[in-house]
Amino acid sequence: MNTPIINKLNDIKNSDIVSFHVPGHKNGKIFDRLGYSDFKNNIVNIDTTEIPGTDNLHSPEEIIKESQEIASKLFKSDHTIFLVNGTTCGIQAAIMAVCSLKDKIIVNRDCHQSVINTCILGDIEPVYVNPDIDMKTGISLGVKLDDIKRLVEEDHSIKAVLITSPTYYGINTDIKLISDYLHKKNKIFIVDEAHGSHIGLNERLGVSAIEQGADISIQSTHKTLPCFTQASMLHIKSNIVDINRLKSFLRIIQSSSPSYMLMASIEMAVEIYRKHGKELMEELIDNIDETKNYIKNLKNISLYNYKHSDITKMYIITKDLNRSGYEIEDILREKYNIQVELSNPYGVLLICSIGNDKHDFEKLRQALGYIDNEIGDDDLIEVDYPNYIPEKALNPRGAFYSNKKSIPIKDAVGKICAEYIVPYPPGISLLSPGEIITKEIIDYVQNCKSIGMNVAGMEDKNLEFIKIID
Ligand SMILES: Cc1ncc(COP(=O)(O)O)c(C=O)c1O
Repeated sequence: MNTPIINKLNDIKNSDIVSFHVPGHKNGKIFDRLGYSDFKNNIVNIDTTEIPGTDNLHSPEEIIKESQEIASKLFKSDHTIFLVNGTTCGIQAAIMAVCSLKDKIIVNRDCHQSVINTCILGDIEPVYVNPDIDMKTGISLGVKLDDIKRLVEEDHSIKAVLITSPTYYGINTDIKLISDYLHKKNKIFIVDEAHGSHIGLNERLGVSAIEQGADISIQSTHKTLPCFTQASMLHIKSNIVDINRLKSFLRIIQSSSPSYMLMASIEMAVEIYRKHGKELMEELIDNIDETKNYIKNLKNISLYNYKHSDITKMYIITKDLNRSGYEIEDILREKYNIQVELSNPYGVLLICSIGNDKHDFEKLRQALGYIDNEIGDDDLIEVDYPNYIPEKALNPRGAFYSNKKSIPIKDAVGKICAEYIVPYPPGISLLSPGEIITKEIIDYVQNCKSIGMNVAGMEDKNLEFIKIID
């Protein structure tokens, strides 16, 4: 068949890869295990559109309304809305619902790009709050209340605050502390909880953002629960959010033909969460604990350990093997048929979900046991994260709509940057469009390149040219 996508996906499916990456259903295995094979096997047969009886996501009155109410009860919100364009569209609608043109919103500097993109769409001004960073691994450790307080006290025109929690690496921020403060100030609090759909399943995972007082949280159900890619939920628990305004933005942003397969998959994730979730999560935590204990006895492999973190994320540090995470990702995939979520110079990140079973962890332990003895040749070069606050010349929208040109990066000091520069880790935008390029940043980007670090956002993947405002 002349179908390159289907052919490749079939190859991957047939190779039976052990998945420690998103989506949370882990190659669909969980549906068979729990007796939902019919749902999985017939998903195409139930794909449909708005016909009598199927309701309408944009103004639900029947089955979609009922299903959203079931989810809302379970996730302890006042209202829950199903999203068919990921958390991305929930973030867009939430920010534009609470901010008008030229309004200001405080956001963590390591926010997802959809946050800044919304500021471009809605002509909104982001005010950055810098997270703490673990200098040994480059991981962002979340923002502090005091830093948010300072920004709110300095500028009373701030409309709202958006914080990512948990982060990609599973680091949790104390949402309650921040929401208690913001509500005294009458500011709306949005939490990007893309990585936290599963949090309510066990007390060792913490407490969801909505339960801690966030006005709006958006969760990528597809990332950590058994749900299809792109399906998310937006939860509201607030008497200061205009829900009709939010819904009108969702009507603008989302498809006018929302996928019934995605909506059905959210409903299935909710059903599994309600009926089997706690038990499966206990099982998952036992498997994770066993694996963590096993890793403790290894010589050269260790786990990143941070007290405020989601235990279903395993960030395996590979530095003592004299190997970068990139190399270990390749070895895991090529020799052991295990795929991780991401790798970086210091290690690999595994996303575990209730879709993973005992067998997955046995294979992982076996692979790590072998890899523990496979020491690389060279010491790894480390680069220190630059400690700086970039100077802003234009806001993201002004920069986006300006004329741009590409110049050699070595000539760019003092110019206004026209693209994002986001090294992973920590996934924090070193520079965003509209900010001034400095020598320190250019040196850092080139060091990142020399150790094989992934720098997202720049059009020139060789990092030799950079786009500036003309
Ligand atoms: C922190 C964070 N927020 C939002 C998103 C966007 O989520 P989605 O892929 O569901 O649109 C992501 C995606 O990776 C993310 O990591």
